[in-house]
Amino acid sequence: MNLQFAEEIIEGLSSTPKHLSSKWFYDKIGDDLFVKIMNMPEYYLTDAEYEIFSKQTSAILDEFEVNKSQLELYELGAGDGTKTIQLLKAMDPKNFTYHPIDISENALNQLQERLAKELPEVSVAPVQGEYFEVLESLSKNESKIILFLGSNLGNMHDDVAKQFIKQLAEQMQAGDKLLLGLDKMKSKAIILPAYNDKQGYTEAFNLNLLSRINSEFDADFNLAQFEHRPNYDEETGIASSALVSKCKQTVNIKSLDKTFEFEENESIQTEISRKYNLDILENVFAGSGLAIKKEFNDSRNYFMNVLLEKN
Ligand code: AVJ
Repeated sequence: MNLQFAEEIIEGLSSTPKHLSSKWFYDKIGDDLFVKIMNMPEYYLTDAEYEIFSKQTSAILDEFEVNKSQLELYELGAGDGTKTIQLLKAMDPKNFTYHPIDISENALNQLQERLAKELPEVSVAPVQGEYFEVLESLSKNESKIILFLGSNLGNMHDDVAKQFIKQLAEQMQAGDKLLLGLDKMKSKAIILPAYNDKQGYTEAFNLNLLSRINSEFDADFNLAQFEHRPNYDEETGIASSALVSKCKQTVNIKSLDKTFEFEENESIQTEISRKYNLDILENVFAGSGLAIKKEFNDSRNYFMNVLLEKN
């Protein structure tokens, strides 16, 4: 049994409002669904960042100052690596080691296989674990570039993101760089469909959290009695997803020896996907010792990659 997951289920389903962390989306089924989401036309984030990486490759690599010294390239939440490969392809494999970091063993294995095929010369050293755990284990005496792409930062509330960036910066030395991929604030008409694709992959992705609890903890969530409900608040820039109980019901989680009551229309908050502008970012970076060196935007101005350097 995954004890941390167990604790978080008990804590989250005992709270008002109920909540579960989006980090638990990513088992084998969740990883596959997320790849499908990324391929949906509604999910513009991936296309936008891919465009930045493929059209502005040399401008990005100039900022990396790759040839100055041997480089350790870390990627937090590497996923399937499609975007990053655009950068790796353009870099001299002699100059760097690529360290994808992911909580999902499965995603790392797939990425490693893919890299072995597509870029066999690149040295790859994957690390499985949670970001904070892994970050603390990093050596300070190496030239580092850290990639944190796909607007993954957006899964954190600003206070948590700020703390995260601060801890990340503490593992960096002067001149080390951080490349963040961040989705921008914009109209609800563009953002909401990205979290509610027509094919229903996002719905399945969200509901998979419950089927994961069913299979890992012998629970009896009836998936047909929960509804995927995405939302985007243009004022705050926060997209969020919830699972809403369609009726009054009781759920048993046998392995945890717990039952939970749901009212009709009661929701479980499962994810926030924060959208950014420079004011919000200024607050998130404040006091971290990181300064923005460059900002890259896609042609539709939906997404940005921000390059930060440690002072
Ligand atoms: C991988 C966290 C960036 O929040 O946009 C996609 C995950 N959730 N569809 C996001 C996700 C629903 C995604 N991130």
